[in-house]
Amino acid sequence: MLKGKKIIIGITGSIAAYKIPFLVRLLKKQGAEVQVILTPFAKDFVTPLTLSTLTEKPVLIDFFNEKDGSWCSHIELGLWADLILLAPLSANTMAKMANGIADNLLLTTVLSARCPVYFAPAMDLDMYKHPSTHENIKKLKSFAYKLIEPVEGELASGLKGVGRLEEPEIIFDILSDAFAESDTLKGKHVLITAGPTHEPIDPVRFIGNHSTGKMGIEIARAFANKGATVNLVLGSVSMSIDEPNINVMQVQTAEEMYEQCVALFPDVNIAVLSAAVADFKPSKPANKKIKKEKSVSTIKLEPTPDILAELGKQKKNDQILVGFALETDNEEANAIKKLNNKNLDMIVLNSLNDEGAGFGTATNKVTIFTKNGSKTEIPLKTKDKVARDIVDQIIAFI
Ligand code: CTP
Repeated sequence: MLKGKKIIIGITGSIAAYKIPFLVRLLKKQGAEVQVILTPFAKDFVTPLTLSTLTEKPVLIDFFNEKDGSWCSHIELGLWADLILLAPLSANTMAKMANGIADNLLLTTVLSARCPVYFAPAMDLDMYKHPSTHENIKKLKSFAYKLIEPVEGELASGLKGVGRLEEPEIIFDILSDAFAESDTLKGKHVLITAGPTHEPIDPVRFIGNHSTGKMGIEIARAFANKGATVNLVLGSVSMSIDEPNINVMQVQTAEEMYEQCVALFPDVNIAVLSAAVADFKPSKPANKKIKKEKSVSTIKLEPTPDILAELGKQKKNDQILVGFALETDNEEANAIKKLNNKNLDMIVLNSLNDEGAGFGTATNKVTIFTKNGSKTEIPLKTKDKVARDIVDQIIAFI
C-alpha cells in the first residue's frame, strides 16, 4: 500500500522528535519515499545525519543552500508529496500554520501543498490545555488537516497528562490506512450534480430554490478522498472549490446541467445526482428587465428536462446511478417510486420534516434505499460525515 508513496515529514522543535527516526524506518521498509523537512529549531532535537541516512535523502531545513547558492522550491515539494505529516508539531509551528505564517521552508511547503496534511501535536500538559492551542487545532481541522491526537502519559517535564506524541507504530498505521482509503476508488470516474438551478425570468430575475449545494459538494469531496476522479456539475452557488481530483463545471440552468451530464455520463462509473433542479422554467424569458409599469399577471412555465430520468434511460449495466429525493409527505413510498421509475440503483431520501435536515443546514439526516430492497438510516450528522456514509454505502453496493 505504501510502495512508491511520497511522504514529507515535517519535524518541529519538540523533544518527541526522537521518535521520528523509528517512524521513518517503518515507512521506508514498506517502500515509501520519505523527505524530511526540519524547522530551524528541530535540528537541536534530532540530527539531520540520522534522518538523511534513514531516508536516503538530504534533510531540508533552509530555503537556500549556502554551498552552491541554489534555492529549495517549496512549491515543487508541496506538489511532490502524496501526504504531509507534521510530527511532532510544536505549539509554535501550529500557531504559525493556523495563521498562514510562512517564515521557514516547512511552513511554506505546507502552505503550497495540495495533498492531505496530517498533524500530530506534542507539547507539555499546560501548553496543550491552553485555549489558544485548542483554537489553533480547531482552525487546522477547518482546513481539512487531520489530527493525530497526542496521548496521555509521562511528559518530558515530568508532568503527567495529555501531550505525548502518538507512538510511531500507531502513526504508521494511521498513514497506511489513509493511503488504503485513498486508493479505494482509484481509476473510477464519478459524476456529481449539486446546488440549485436558476431559470431566468428576465436578465435580473429567476426561479430558483434554497439549495446551497453543500451536500453534493461534500459527496464530491468524499469521492475524491477515496481516489476517484470527480466531475462536479455545480448549479448557482457561490462556494468556490479548488481541489485536485474535482473538476468543477459551473452551470446556471437545468438545460445547461442536462447538457453537461449527458455529455459526461457515458464515461463515468458512478453518477450521484444531488442537485435541486428546477422542475419548471419560464417559457419565454424576457431579454430585457421587465419594468413594473408593464404589470405581469402570469409567467408561462414549461417543464425542464429530468436529468436523472434521462441518465436512467441511458444507464449501462456496469454503471451505478444514485438519485436524491426531497419529500415532505409519504416520504418512503415517494422515494421508492422514484428509484423504480427512474431506473436507479440507489436513492437518498431527505425529509423536510426532519429537524436539522435539508437546505441550508450544516447537518443532514437521510435514508438510503437500494434497488435490492435494502434500507439504511443515517442519523443526524454534519453533511461531510453523511457524505462519507453515502459514499461507503455506494462502495458496499458495488
Ligand atoms: N432531478 C433531475 N432533473 C430534474 C429534476 C430532478 O435530475 N429536472 C433529480 C434530482 O437531482 C434528484 C431527483 O431527480 O436526484 C429527484 O428530485 P426531486 O425534486 O425530489 O423529484 P422530482 O423527480 O423532481 O419529482 P417531484 O418534484 O414530483 O417530487
